[in-house]
Amino acid sequence: MKNTASIVLAAGQGKRMFSELPKVLHRASGRSLVSFPVRLAQGLEVSPIVVVVGHGREKVIAQLDTDFGQGAVCFAVQEQQLGTADAVRSALPHLLDHRGPVLVLSGDVPLLADQTIRQLEAAYLGANAAVALLTFEPRDPSGYGRVLREAGHVRSVKEHRDCSESERAIREVNAGIYLIDADFLRSGLGRLTSDNDQGELLLPDLVALAASEGVVPAVLASEEEVGGVNDRADLARVEAVLRARTNLALMRTGVAMSQPESVHVDLDCEIGPDTSLGPGVQLLGRCRIGRGCTLEAGVIVQSSEVHDGATIKAYSVLESAVVGNDAVVGPFARLRPGTKLGPKVHIGNFVETKNTIMDTGAKANHLAYLGDGVIGQRVNVGAGTIFCNYDGYQKHTTVLEDDVFIGSDSQLVAPVTVGRGAYVGSGSTITKNVPADALAMSRVKQENREGVAALLRRRFAALKQKALEAKKGAH
Ligand code: UD1
Ligand code: CA
Repeated sequence: MKNTASIVLAAGQGKRMFSELPKVLHRASGRSLVSFPVRLAQGLEVSPIVVVVGHGREKVIAQLDTDFGQGAVCFAVQEQQLGTADAVRSALPHLLDHRGPVLVLSGDVPLLADQTIRQLEAAYLGANAAVALLTFEPRDPSGYGRVLREAGHVRSVKEHRDCSESERAIREVNAGIYLIDADFLRSGLGRLTSDNDQGELLLPDLVALAASEGVVPAVLASEEEVGGVNDRADLARVEAVLRARTNLALMRTGVAMSQPESVHVDLDCEIGPDTSLGPGVQLLGRCRIGRGCTLEAGVIVQSSEVHDGATIKAYSVLESAVVGNDAVVGPFARLRPGTKLGPKVHIGNFVETKNTIMDTGAKANHLAYLGDGVIGQRVNVGAGTIFCNYDGYQKHTTVLEDDVFIGSDSQLVAPVTVGRGAYVGSGSTITKNVPADALAMSRVKQENREGVAALLRRRFAALKQKALEAKKGAH
């Protein structure tokens, strides 16, 4: 958009969220609400983008700096939340030299599409207007500012609480999204009064001012698109819309979903073609899933990479992990942060890994805890193996070099290294380094006592019989 500046209103608290967090920092599909209008403004190439912050401003600024990088947007502070016009006024020092339209966006309207703003711009330019606004017709218009028209022309916007009974019957409401000429904005804000039920300076009052001097075009948008987020139910509705859109776009680019309505993929995830997502799969945060992967039912992946051809079986949970090409994980596996699995690694059921690297072809197929480990190629970790990585004060590393075999039910008390090709006998507790190609055993030697089990059985049966008789006698 040529020669257009933008103001994003994000200073309000959002009382109806009943939250410690400012409303605009609540998330939909992994992104903060306030990031949506900022992204929209960036896409429209408007500049500068001034975000008005107030309630929880440190957190809002920090979030936008993380999302877009420092300096991508400017911040104006509204010390007290005295209304939407006051919020816009606090942004004006950033727009001193600006001539031309100012796009006013709301921090709590995340689904607005750029084509709708283009339509608003066309209407604004076509009418040579001072103000143009987006309106919509919600199923329930209560709470919104009503659009009052005369002979079809927009005359003013009146807040719900200031409306008469008959005005409240009007279906068309203000969406809170405007294009306003900068010079008109500067002069108009000075002419507003707080003569309303809230005693605040209301931005929609500029509509009446502009309508007394010329035409105010209104573009009707859909409720789905411009309905704002005021409470948690609205937030869930917004996320449902985003989820459906994301899943459709993924399926259109070759991602298979047997039950798409149950799959959730955050907006900052990428998935390659020929990958299939089972029912209930959730991909959260920033994930990269390659081509030809299978994620079975109930898999939860947070901020992780899964490379081409890997299979994540049902109900596995991955967090900040990397899974290599053609690896197989789960079912019921838990990969915690710092897990890096190389190509063709196998992790089976009830295996937990944390800060552990496994090289090509290594396996841990059943019931293990592998914390703070470095595991070489083709290593086999037997069922029930535990890396004892914590001494109550510090974490230590277990190193298993290439081709090591760890027998079932072994404990490796870190720091410890098992050398290349070595064997650890089942049931061992390894506290000392094992040299390459050695066999390490630390269990008690087996002893067989002939006939003793049968002897014990007879003795125990006799004791039980005696106890029963004693009980009968007592009655
Ligand atoms: C506003 C409009 C209403 C419209 C509705 C559409 C006003 C007075 N009313 O009402 O006509 O139908 O949006 O959703 O504008 N904010 C600030 N500082 C403030 C007050 C608000 O930055 O002092 C921000 C909020 O954080 C929010 C936006 O402005 O992002 C809108 O404020 P909100 O209080 O939600 O206005 P509504 O009552 O919804
Ligand atoms: Ca609102």
